Amino acid sequence: KNEIDTGLDEWTCNSNECFNIALVSTQNVKKIVPFKPYFTYPFFGQTETIVGYKNLNINLYYSSAALSTYLSINYTDKHPEYCQDIYQQLYEEDKIPRKNIIENFDTFCSTVEKDEKNFAPFGKKFHEYRLKADNEDTCYELYNCSFNTKGFKEYNQALQTFLLFYIEGSNFLDPNDTLWEFVLLYEKKKTSEGYHIYSTVGFVSFYPFFYYPDQQRIRISQFLILPVYQNKGHGALLYKKLFEDFLIRKDVAEVTVEEPNDTFQELRDKLDCRMLLPLFNKLVKLNESLLPLDDDFLLKIQKKFKLSKKQARRCTEILLLKCLQ
Ligand code: ACO
Repeated sequence: KNEIDTGLDEWTCNSNECFNIALVSTQNVKKIVPFKPYFTYPFFGQTETIVGYKNLNINLYYSSAALSTYLSINYTDKHPEYCQDIYQQLYEEDKIPRKNIIENFDTFCSTVEKDEKNFAPFGKKFHEYRLKADNEDTCYELYNCSFNTKGFKEYNQALQTFLLFYIEGSNFLDPNDTLWEFVLLYEKKKTSEGYHIYSTVGFVSFYPFFYYPDQQRIRISQFLILPVYQNKGHGALLYKKLFEDFLIRKDVAEVTVEEPNDTFQELRDKLDCRMLLPLFNKLVKLNESLLPLDDDFLLKIQKKFKLSKKQARRCTEILLLKCLQ
């Protein structure tokens, strides 16, 4: 086996490096700027390698709004005996939905054009914002939708592929379970011709669980901002708006997060602490004899801000440390 392995070294490549993923619009089609996936083990196994090709490139392009998908696999040489069937691994279990794939680049370009003209975001708009760094032609819109929203199931298949690339251990949702709720985030740009182009920025999925006796415990399941839009404040703005709405909703008693990773936990800690900070500033200034805080106080915070017990305790400790320093 070692002999074979050594012989195949020059035919082996890292599957993350091979991928070029891109969101394509008529504005950038002549100069596509691709980004890399964080994970490809769901397709190629834990070693994240592909054997049997030299100078392998897997181009996976999406029309930026509707996410129509183009796939092309290119290489300069193929091993005559040992080479993996890449298409089979990509299409397995519909990880990349095969039936909608466009393989001809010109066809893809005309689809991008058509998508741009015809696209209307899924669901119902409930918020919009702008970023200081952008010019006046750009804003961002948030939409609410579910698997009952017309056309969303198909669009969600492409979104789910992104999850495999960007969230470790993520699973596909059951499209027949209509209780799943989604918030979709779009960039909306006005072109010089005066029409609007949408681009998918990110999304959140969450599920309402029963909370005795007549409320809901919301569990945020998948939270993703696509790489080209990361580190600009979208994640924070999306989380903040989502949480503000949960705080208003009388049917929601608690908001939890399913297996948050370190990056998301950091974002969540910062924003939850900011939400609690005014209360702590007041409290610590007013009456230090309240310390250490007892379980009743924690329970009050938990209920008022709809945090899980663990998150309420975590933020309380961060804030006490800050306020007492
Ligand atoms: N590492 C550590 N902290 C980070 C990172 C990072 N890579 N990216 C953002 N943050 C923190 C920063 O502290 C930032 O605070 P600051 O403004 O004080 O610097 C804060 O998050 C907000 O930054 P945003 O620009 O709003 O974050 P962004 O838009 O990039 O969204 C997110 C963050 C959602 C984690 C995004 O990077 C992403 O989608 N990553 C890939 C998918 C993922 O990991 N999703 C979460 C999985 S867990 C779940 O789904 C429940």
